[in-house]
Formats: sequence, C-alpha cells, structure tokens
Amino acid sequence: MVKEFDYYGIDGDTFFSIIDNMYDEVIVYDANYNIVFLNQACKRHYSTSPEAMIGKSFFDFVDIDWWSPSILPVVYKEKKAMAIRQKTYTQTELLTIAVPLFDEHNNIKYVVMNVRDEINEADLYNPQYIVQETILDEKQKPVSKSKEMKKVMKLVKKVSKIDATCIITGESGTGKSMIAKHMHRLGLRSDQSFINVNCASIPNELFESEFFGYVKGAFTGAKSTGKKGLLELADNGILLLDEISELSLSAQAKLLTVLQDKEYMPVGASKTVKIDVKIIAATNKNLKNMVDIGTFREDLYYRINVIEIYIPPLRKRREDILQLVHSFMNQFNNKYGLTRQLSSSVLQVLLEHEWKGNVRELRHLIERLVVTVDSLVIDVNHLPKNVFGIIDQTREEENLSFDEKLIKYEAYIVQSAYKKYNSSRKLAVHLSISQTRANNLIKKHIKGTSNN
Ligand SMILES: Nc1ncnc2c1ncn2[C@@H]1O[C@H](COP(=O)(O)OP(=O)(O)OP(=O)(O)O)[C@@H](O)[C@H]1O
Ligand SMILES: [Mg+2]
Repeated sequence: MVKEFDYYGIDGDTFFSIIDNMYDEVIVYDANYNIVFLNQACKRHYSTSPEAMIGKSFFDFVDIDWWSPSILPVVYKEKKAMAIRQKTYTQTELLTIAVPLFDEHNNIKYVVMNVRDEINEADLYNPQYIVQETILDEKQKPVSKSKEMKKVMKLVKKVSKIDATCIITGESGTGKSMIAKHMHRLGLRSDQSFINVNCASIPNELFESEFFGYVKGAFTGAKSTGKKGLLELADNGILLLDEISELSLSAQAKLLTVLQDKEYMPVGASKTVKIDVKIIAATNKNLKNMVDIGTFREDLYYRINVIEIYIPPLRKRREDILQLVHSFMNQFNNKYGLTRQLSSSVLQVLLEHEWKGNVRELRHLIERLVVTVDSLVIDVNHLPKNVFGIIDQTREEENLSFDEKLIKYEAYIVQSAYKKYNSSRKLAVHLSISQTRANNLIKKHIKGTSNN
C-alpha cells in the first residue's frame, strides 16, 4: 500500500509546489552524480527546464562547461557540506551550497544543493521601505469617544492645517500611523502624496540611496535609469518617518541636514535638489531618554519635536473600547460577509481587559473571533484562553447553567474592578451604575453577605 504523503497537513502536491517555486535553485544528486530533482529556478540560471536536466548526469553538463568550477566531486570526496561561487555559461553568478545526506552506513545517499544568484544591493527594492496602506479602515475616522482622544483629535486637526513638523508618540498599536494618515486627509496637502517610511527597515548603508535617490551611473550596480528617492516621492506632500528612533546616528545627521536646508544631493548628482515636504515622525520609544544616553541626536530631537501629539494607551481611555469594538465588528462582518454578534459577557470582559497591545490587539482579536467562531453569538468561552485567563474557568464550568455562568462573570468583573478601585463610589463610576447597585454587588461578591 502506498503511504499518503502528509506533512503537518500539507499534501505531496503542495509540498512539491513549495519547493518547485522557491526562488533559490534546489538541485539534488544521487550517489552516482545523477540529477534526481531540480526546481523551476533552473530556468533563470541555465535557460532550460527541469525536465531537460532531471535524470542526466552531472558530467553531461560539466563536459560542456555549463558551470564552473564544480563542487560535487569534492563533496563526494570530503563528505561534508561546502559552498562555492560559480558562473554559468549564461554568465549568471551563483553561490552554491552543497549538503550531503547519508545512509545508515555513512555513505552519501544524496547531495542537496541550494543555488542562489546574487542580487545586486542597488536592485534590492524592498517594498517594506514604503509601507503601503494596508490598514483596512483607511477611509475611516479614528474612533475618539473618550475625552483623552477628543483632545488628541483637536490637536491633530490644528496641526494638520499647518506645515510644522510634528512627532506622534505613544505605545505600539495606539494608532500613530493611522493618525498620521488622518492628518494627511485633513490637511492642506491631501491631494499630494503621503509616503510612509518605516525607518527600521532601511539598512544604514542604503539610507542615502533610498532617501535621496541616485542619478544614472552613480555607482557600480546602480540601475541605468537612476532611482527616485523617498524625498522626491514625497515632494509637496507628507513624509511619515515611522519608527524614527531606529535611524542610525549617521542617518540622523544626514536627515537633520535635509530638514535644515530643505534640499539634498542625490547620490552621484552634481547639484542639489530643493524639496517642500511636511515631515511627521512617529515613535513608540522615549526619544528624550535616547538623547540622554546618546543614541538620538539632540539637535534632531528638537527639530522634529516642534509639536508632540501623544496618543494615550487604550487602558487609559477605556471609553473608546466600546465604540472600537462596534466599529471593528462592523468592518469584519462586512469584510467576511458574516453577521456575528458579541454576547454581553464578552463585551464586559473586553471592557475590562488591559489591552497591552492597544487598539491593534483589540482589532486583531475581533477579526480572529469573527472569522473563527462558527456560532452567531460570540461568547466568553471563544476568547483565547492564553490572554483571557478567566476563560479557563469557564471551560471547566461548561456544565453550569446560563444564569450560573452570568453570576460567575458578574463576580469576576466586580472583584477585579473592586481590587483596583477599592471604593463603592469609584466602582459605581467605573461600571456606570448607581452607587446603591455597586454597594449591593460588593455585598454579594466581595463581602458575601447578600442573599441574592
Ligand atoms: N482610534 C482608532 N480608531 C480606529 N482604529 C484604530 C484607532 N487607533 C488605531 N486603530 C487601528 O489599530 C491598528 C494599529 O494602529 P496603528 O498601526 O496606527 O498603530 P501604531 O501606533 O502606528 O503602532 P506601531 O507603534 O506598532 O507602529 C490599525 O489597524 C488601526 O487602523
Ligand atoms: Mg505605526
């Protein structure tokens, strides 16, 4: 009987397709120099198909100088993994890594090779540098129900109407990138470009060519057409320097010069180019501390810190949670064509949660629940138990009646809030209930003196 191929749920065809589509060439020889496997990447390296090479011998190709120098005979002899630089007859330069696989007698059974062509640094156009807007609710206004966020939005509105440089600060996931995008929409430059650069993804040595661009023939390996820099792409519009804290000190110095002079010199150019860009920086680090320890330039700090927009963490503006939950439920129900609803006990748990990952964590959770829960109503036992520890108890309590479960949750909510506030008045305010009701709940769940 033939054994079904099943690798962690992946069937043989899919597994084959994964290897066949790898960017690197994968070539496997048996113990006798015969090619037993080769993927599609060989088309790029030798201008021929895998079918034309599989089954043939290594010597069929070496004899006609298909590639050189050869490594396979050495691997068979030395019985160890090796790497070598080669050139093919199509003048492609390759880095080949050969790894022998052994049988139970320590004889070579196969040699697996990874063959990669070198990619020119200058041609490495990493789309991560410019973060494409993937935010689903791009067209939506940021939710701002709480007084803290209302204050933020008031400042955002003001700052978006002027050209002053500003910095958006706050913990990760609080909505800094979203606010920056919103500022673009509100502002004078809304019909111009908005370029979101993630500073963390730009290698230091590529800073100049990415930011300033280069003229044709600027350096060996440069694209023959030259390349536009991020500053040019953002000209007349807004450049968002996301995660600005991640720029190296030398990149910071170069950036400062541009901000001061409002001009820069593309790599290889003979004259400077003037620019008119509004800069918004964003960071979840404490830049002042970085200045103190010398990892962020003080002059750049003051240059970008003209206006600071601080977005408080979600746990400090709980009034936003409910509206965010509704907004995300709508979005994801629409996106997936579903009509899921949240039970009131789930809602209560979400309102109480710490949200260390802020709005992003909430958004991801809602998407996950909408997609993975099959019943119409999403209940507390659907919440991921690693995050919502309380749910563990629920699982054990599955045999409880609906009313008994409700009482358990009521107890949980009251006990955890009381732990924090330790006063019936504050508890009443926090839960938006009357003080009499708060007192009764405390009697019931904290002091255990109620009969209900
Ligand atoms: N006030 C809000 N209203 C609606 N959605 C929001 C709000 N704030 C954040 N979001 C959503 O939460 C997610 C995270 O927001 P965003 O990427 O802007 O956070 P960030 O502060 O830039 O995070 P990081 O520091 O990791 O870059 C996004 O999907 C965004 O749309
Ligand atoms: Mg961001």
